[in-house]
Amino acid sequence: MTASLIDGNQIAGQIKAEVAAQVSALKRKGVNPCLAVILVGDDPASSTYVSAKQRVSREIGIRSIQHHFAEDTAESSLVDLIGELNQDASVHGILVQLPLPPHISEYNIVSAIAPQKDVDGFHPYNAGRLVTGLDTFIPCTPLGVSEMISKSGIEASGKHVVIIGRSNIVGKPLMNLLVQKADQANATVTLCHSRTRDIKVHTLQADILVAAIGRPGFVTSDMVKPGAVVIDVGINRIKEKGKTRLVGDVDFDEVRKVASKITPVPGGVGPMTVGILMQNVAKAAVLSSA
Ligand code: GUN
Repeated sequence: MTASLIDGNQIAGQIKAEVAAQVSALKRKGVNPCLAVILVGDDPASSTYVSAKQRVSREIGIRSIQHHFAEDTAESSLVDLIGELNQDASVHGILVQLPLPPHISEYNIVSAIAPQKDVDGFHPYNAGRLVTGLDTFIPCTPLGVSEMISKSGIEASGKHVVIIGRSNIVGKPLMNLLVQKADQANATVTLCHSRTRDIKVHTLQADILVAAIGRPGFVTSDMVKPGAVVIDVGINRIKEKGKTRLVGDVDFDEVRKVASKITPVPGGVGPMTVGILMQNVAKAAVLSSA
């Protein structure tokens, strides 16, 4: 068997087209959707993600403003800026690119964002709403993964989804999303992490296996049940012959031989994250004008 590819660029393209139409309608009503992006330091991966978020914003008519701070910026400077952006009625979404330097508390920064502008869905208030099953901003990568699954014609309901990785950005919110009593969810979810014993025992049970650990090639073909769907959230930069190459958390060439469907890296989950971010910014703009 060779798995078919789940094309993140194509699915994200559909989402972006829908959001672009929504943005046009908002503009006709006098609402000009705007995203403020805050970047601290010069991490090349973070800079690349922030550039992609700004480029796609422009493509679909969302105004994007960037605030770039030096690595040694004080936490209070960020909190002050977030306070100003919270008060600025022309800004609908606020995003602080993570990770932050170690001297800054991610919790303090994420908690400073007004929940109604928290387009990443990282504020504890919004994270709690997701757990409770209330309408909220759902973190972009988990919602992107869920959309990829459903838009590829895969039913999550009743399936066993095994997630590897317990981050607040991917693993935990994805678990909370997929266990919801809701369309496109209703899954049985196992969350594995660095302290899980005999991880293969769990991954071999997965109808849908999601890798979100940040370790290149971690998922090997012996860990995958034949016919499973494999979603690779990892974006790892590896140096090869002086060049940087992007690889996922899955040993793609080998796992492709046993899975039924698989996401590539690049061109899988990555574009979905940005597409959903645009959707969340449009949602924030709609809520602000309601
Ligand atoms: N770092 C890795 N993924 C994300 C994300 O979705 N949002 C933000 N703000 N930072 C990230």
